[in-house]
Amino acid sequence: MEKIVLSGMRPTGRLHLGHLLVLENWVKLQEEAKCFYMIADWHALTTEYENTDEVLQNIEYLALDFLAAGIDPEKSALFVQSEVKEHAELALLFGMFTPLSWLERVPTYKDQKEKLGEMGKDLNTYGFLGYPLLQAADILIYRANLVPVGEDQLPHLELTREVARRFNYLYGSVFPEPQAVLHAVPLLPGIDGRKMSKSYKNEIALSSTPEEVSEQVRNMITDPARVRKTDPGHPEVCVVHTYYQVFYPEKVTEIEEQCRTAGIGCVACKKQLALKINEILEPLRERREEFLKGKKYLEILAEGQAKASRAAKETMREVREKMKLR
Ligand code: TRP
Ligand code: SF4
Repeated sequence: MEKIVLSGMRPTGRLHLGHLLVLENWVKLQEEAKCFYMIADWHALTTEYENTDEVLQNIEYLALDFLAAGIDPEKSALFVQSEVKEHAELALLFGMFTPLSWLERVPTYKDQKEKLGEMGKDLNTYGFLGYPLLQAADILIYRANLVPVGEDQLPHLELTREVARRFNYLYGSVFPEPQAVLHAVPLLPGIDGRKMSKSYKNEIALSSTPEEVSEQVRNMITDPARVRKTDPGHPEVCVVHTYYQVFYPEKVTEIEEQCRTAGIGCVACKKQLALKINEILEPLRERREEFLKGKKYLEILAEGQAKASRAAKETMREVREKMKLR
């Protein structure tokens, strides 16, 4: 069976080093499958409906981050969800036969509604309840069978399969039942050791300059017990060490040894890490430059839209036929 991949992210700001690990998997899948990678701007509206000022800017950031990370427009369709209107049509049709209870029992629904509700967001909306149904449409409209996502998205995938099954049962077989592609992605803390979050400003953006990277690494918190350079350190409690494990594994043993014996100071230890991260980000910077030139990324999004539209229109033609619409 032909492998078709779809995945997406909501445009909520610049991507950071943690996302790089996710995108590496998207990039690999380009070699073995037909890939659709989507900027889920409608999904961003489910929570940001009161503040749409930044959506356009964030779409550009995300497109450039994707391209910089190695999403190859020759191999994949990179596109903006709201530019392929068929997603909305399919989500609407799915809404006709999806029991409300299926949506209400999606675990993230109640959790997020309460959590964001406490932060002053009223998510007692139809759009928020329908979030997973729109996601099902995103996936099924390309008849994707593989969906690279994090574990948090598994309930949405489960619902997608249930919707596919119900459609196929009611009207005839159109949709495959897609599987998640789970990649183990190490959890990366922010530079202050807390969970990475935009509101804490503790992330290292993929679009950082070399100077910004050095500065962020300098600000990473280290072993608090290591006051002087001559104090032996405990790498296991140090954020710098965690970043070594993820981005500089070949150096971890050496650094641990030197840290424990006070053979290296934190300043030097951080300097090496910043150099390594900058080395990793260098090819991303080059690609970003290239795609920014003459706003090339806009052409790429238009090409992606054309590719995605063709596939989506073909599925919708079949869907309407099976449902005996027009
Ligand atoms: N819900 C996903 C997230 O928050 C984003 C998304 C939207 C998505 N549509 C999708 C992911 C389709 C995979 C497939 O990360
Ligand atoms: Fe952390 Fe490196 Fe300092 Fe050890 S030497 S505490 S690993 S920054």
